[in-house]
Amino acid sequence: MMICKTNEQVEMMRQSALLVSKTLSEVAKTLKPGITTISIDKMIGTFINDHKAVPSFLNYKGYPFNSCISVNDVVVHGFPGKNELEEGDIVSIDIGVILNEWHGDHAYTFAMGDPGNAAKQLIRVTKESLYKGIEKAIVGNYVGDIAYAIQEHTEKKHGYGVVRELVGHGLGKNLHEDPQVPNYGKRGSGKKLKDGLVLAIEPMINLGKKDVYTEDDGWTVRTKDGKPSVHFEHDVCVRKNKADILSDYMPIEAAEKANPNLYSE
Ligand code: MF3
Ligand code: CO
Repeated sequence: MMICKTNEQVEMMRQSALLVSKTLSEVAKTLKPGITTISIDKMIGTFINDHKAVPSFLNYKGYPFNSCISVNDVVVHGFPGKNELEEGDIVSIDIGVILNEWHGDHAYTFAMGDPGNAAKQLIRVTKESLYKGIEKAIVGNYVGDIAYAIQEHTEKKHGYGVVRELVGHGLGKNLHEDPQVPNYGKRGSGKKLKDGLVLAIEPMINLGKKDVYTEDDGWTVRTKDGKPSVHFEHDVCVRKNKADILSDYMPIEAAEKANPNLYSE
C-alpha cells in the first residue's frame, strides 16, 4: 500500500531529511585520514540525539549501529569499526533519523584525498544518475521511469554495474514503505506515482560488475569483484511537474569543499 503524505506531513518529513543532511555535513567537516569509522558513528548518534531525534537504523531488524559506513568495495550496510580511513578511500555514509515520528534517510559518498580517475568518475556519474532519477519522480510517471533513467546513465552509458539486490523505497512513519524503487527497469513499468508520495531514491553503482554478496555478519554487502561501489540517496516528494527534494546536498557539498582532506568536483 502506497501512503501519500499531506502537505503538512511533507513539511515534517523535510525537517527529518534536513536533519540527516545536517548530520552528514557535520561528518564531512571531521573526515580525515586516521579517523576510525566507529568514532564517526558515535558522533552521528550524539548529533542526532542532540537534535531531539533518534537514529533509526539502530536496532532496525537488529542492525547494531547508528549509521552505515561503507568503504571502497563495501556497497552498503557497512559496520562502523576500529578501521581507520585512509587516503584514497571512498566512503559512503548512510544515516536515518526519526524526528517527530517521521523518518529521514539519506546518504552521500565522500572520497579521501585523491581516489583516482576511475573512482572520481564513478562518484560523479552515480550522483548524476540520482538527479536523473529524481527528474522522473513526477505525478503520472511510473517507478520504472525512475529506474530506467538511473540504469540508462550508469549501466548503458558508462558500463557500470547496477546492484540488483537492493532498492530504494517509500518513506514515511516507516523506514521502508511501498513502493520499492529499483535502480534498473523498464520505462512505464511498476506503480504509478502519485502526488505526495515520498521516496528514498538510492542508486548503488559498482565500478565493475553488478554482482554482490553479503558477509557472514548478515549485513555488509560487498562487490564480488572487489572493485569500488558508490551510493547516493535523497528523500524526494513526488509532485506535479517537478519533484521536491526534501534532503539537501548543499551544506554537505559546502563542507566537503572546505575540507582539504576530501576530494570535491
Ligand atoms: N538507507 C538504507 C535503507 O534504506 C539503510 C537501512 S539499513 C539499516 O535501507 F539496517 F541500517 F537500517
Ligand atoms: Co534508504
